[in-house]
Formats: sequence, C-alpha cells, structure tokens
Amino acid sequence: MSVVHVPSRPTFETPITRLFGIDYPIIQGAMAWLSEGELVAAVSNEGGLGVLGASIMSVDEFEVQVVRAKQLTDRPFAVNFPLVLGEYSAHLEMALSHGVKIIFMSAGSPKVLTPRIKEAGALCVHVVPNLKLAQSAIKHGVDAIVLESVEAGGHVSIDGASAITNIPHVARGIEVPLIAAGGIVDGYGMAAAMCLGADGIQMGTRFLATKESNAPAIYQKLLLEAGEGDVPVFSKKYHPSRALRSPFVEQVLALEAADRPVEEVRTLVGRGRAKKAAHEGNLQEGVFYAGTGAALVKDVLSVKELFDQLLAEYQEATGRAGGFLKAARPTESDAETTRARGGK
Ligand SMILES: Cc1cc2nc3c(=O)[nH]c(=O)nc-3n(C[C@H](O)[C@H](O)[C@H](O)COP(=O)(O)O)c2cc1C
Repeated sequence: MSVVHVPSRPTFETPITRLFGIDYPIIQGAMAWLSEGELVAAVSNEGGLGVLGASIMSVDEFEVQVVRAKQLTDRPFAVNFPLVLGEYSAHLEMALSHGVKIIFMSAGSPKVLTPRIKEAGALCVHVVPNLKLAQSAIKHGVDAIVLESVEAGGHVSIDGASAITNIPHVARGIEVPLIAAGGIVDGYGMAAAMCLGADGIQMGTRFLATKESNAPAIYQKLLLEAGEGDVPVFSKKYHPSRALRSPFVEQVLALEAADRPVEEVRTLVGRGRAKKAAHEGNLQEGVFYAGTGAALVKDVLSVKELFDQLLAEYQEATGRAGGFLKAARPTESDAETTRARGGK
C-alpha cells in the first residue's frame, strides 16, 4: 500500500485569528464578481476567512451569494461593501439578517456604516492605503485594518507606498490588528508581511488561480502568462487601478502616454468592465484586475492545495531567515574577555 504524504500544517495564534475565530491568518480579499459563494466557503472551510464582494450587485443578487456561502460552510465568512458604490446600507441589513458577523468596508468613509455594524454586534474592518486613513478609521471604531499597498490588484492609491515600508509604518502607528494586502501570493510573501508587523494577510490575485474561483479560463490564462511589467496601473489621473494587460488597458495607457485630457479616459472606464471580464471573459472590453504578484503565479490549485503550499512555504521562509543567524558559540573576542576576567 502506498503512503500518501500529507504535509502537517503549523498552528497559529495571532490577533487576527483570535478576532475572527479562524485557524490561519489568511484572508481571501473581496473581488467584485469573482469572490462568490464557492470560493468564499472553500477558504473558510480551510481555516482562513472568505470575503464575499457586493460591488454593484443588487441586494437580491448579493443575497444569493450569502445564502450559497452559508450552505457551503459553517465557519465564519465576511462580506465587503465599497462605500462609494451601490446599495451598501441595504446590503448590510440583508447580510446582518443572515447572521453575517464580519463586515469589510472599502473606499468611502467608515463613519457611514460603522455605528450600525457595532450596534448589531458585528465586527467591522476597513480597507485603507496608508496610516492617515487607518487612524481615521480607527477613530470611528473599526476593529481591524486591511492595509492595501500599491502592489494590490483592483483600485489602488496612486501615491501609495510599497508593502515593505507601508506595513511597518502602519503597524507602528496603530493599536488594532493589521492585515497586509498587496502582492502576496505565497508563503514567502506571507512570512515577509508578518515579519514587517502584520497580524494577518489578505490575498486577491492568488485566489483567482484556484479551482473554486469562478474566473473564466481566459482570465486565468492571462494571469498565468503574466510576466514582469504585465500588471500596470492605468487611469492614473481618474480612478487608478491595477489590472492585467488587455486591449482595453493598452488603449487607456496609450491615451495617458499621449497626455490626452482625463475626460477621454473617464468616458472609457467603468461601464461594467470588471463584470465583463469576470463573468463573460470578454477580452476586448473587460478589465482583468490583478496585482503585481501575478508574475509569480504559475499554477491553478484547489484552495486546499493552496493552503497546504502557503503554510509549508511560510515555515520554510521563517526557517530560512532564522537559519542565517549564527549559532551562539564563543568567539575569539569572547575568549579574550574571559581570559581578561581571570578565566571565569
Ligand atoms: C479582481 C479583483 C477584484 C477586486 N474587487 C474588490 C472589491 O470589490 N472590493 C474591495 O474592497 N477590494 C477589491 N479588490 C482588492 C482585494 O480585495 C485585495 O485587497 C487585493 O486583491 C490584494 O492584492 P493582491 O491582488 O495583490 O493579492 C479586488 C482585487 C482584485 C484582484
């Protein structure tokens, strides 16, 4: 009989695992039209936290996803509303009525929904790009912060810092648990973020290349084939976003390179392009959001395989860094000091 090797997973306890009641400090970031019931439940079932994204869905459309996730997992999962789009108050009431206890808010002011979320006894998390906005969200009572650095897929802050300076800067300036997002696609990135001061990580792009993701084949193909420089920020002066190169992104980049008026870009972006990519795989018109980590993603795994791999890489990365420390052994100068002290 052949023996199947199952890698043993490490156990974790961080402010994020305690806050959400999860096993691993790994959050699947909300992705408009892509983080639907199957993916979210698969992540929560593996011991992370899945997050459903409402984006501009109608309340009825979004309720289908909440009900689906509830059917597929009895573990905690969260919902996300960008506070500049759609019917977020109605989305919130619907989610609360289904017993959702963790709400991620992005864009817009945390003032708007935080009081209602707290009154309902749920946790609220706000997604921000920098320390200033993190501190403002905390002032309004949020329980945790997601810090999205400039490497992230989707909408980004054009003057945002890269994770290596952003994470320690924010970690030192706030008291609530910190989740780092942007450019993390493996256990090495996860370990780096945790070393820099994060209590957990959020990934979007990596989860697009999973079997449970509903990203169409063309989306996964673009992602797997992406190399260095293939995930630019476009629409820099209107609504800066990071996405895989596609005919539409090239068109906007060409307008920007020619210094065309921002109105020309404004008339092109939006128009349901994220949905066209996510649901239809429309290469010509769609926007295929992804982060810079796309260049490191080379396979489509199941969520379970991804968790096994991430956790093994995390252990390897922390072991590797620790391995550079010289073993404590007496040096020549220690020996001289000992002699100078009379051999004691
Ligand atoms: C396809 C896609 C769609 C996204 N949609 C949303 C969204 O609806 N709401 C939100 O708060 N963040 C959204 N994000 C950001 C993710 O939640 C996450 O923070 C980000 O992907 C992290 O960076 P990474 O892609 O480098 O892992 C999206 C990201 C991607 C790649």
